[in-house]
Amino acid sequence: MLHQQIQQALNEQITLEGQSSHAYLAMAVWAETNGFDGTASFLYTHAEEERQHMLKLMRFVNERGGVACVPDLNASAQTFDGIGHVFQLILEHETRVTASINDVVDQCLKLKDYTTHNFMQWYVAEQIEEEAMARKILDKLALAGGDKGALYLFDRDIMNLEATHA
Ligand code: FEO
Repeated sequence: MLHQQIQQALNEQITLEGQSSHAYLAMAVWAETNGFDGTASFLYTHAEEERQHMLKLMRFVNERGGVACVPDLNASAQTFDGIGHVFQLILEHETRVTASINDVVDQCLKLKDYTTHNFMQWYVAEQIEEEAMARKILDKLALAGGDKGALYLFDRDIMNLEATHA
């Protein structure tokens, strides 16, 4: 049986993953309507991945005798100051997600819930990849430096980044 405190922490994580999916979706719409089709595709795929992260947690909570919450999601910002701004926000967001996951892991150790601790290791590893990906993209954008031709190539090549990440 899931400890009440762990259930609450997991439900908060469910909300955060759902909110992540929502945020990536808003960014995808912005990218698609501002001429960044490759980036839009990358972000739509990522929104779907975040939804899967949410579902995986929900199923786990229910399997362990808890009840997963279905989160109310807030509207996400839909206007951005450019592609660099989008990925800066992504890095900040993923850093917050990592902190939240670390907090869940910490609570698992304190309450000796080693099953949930083990389950959460998948998320710990996933966050390393997600933060690394955001940093790599920001490095590429810094190299492009706002040059239109370079941004065009960036938008084309981001699909390959996605493929190597999967
Ligand atoms: Fe599922 Fe990007 O955190």
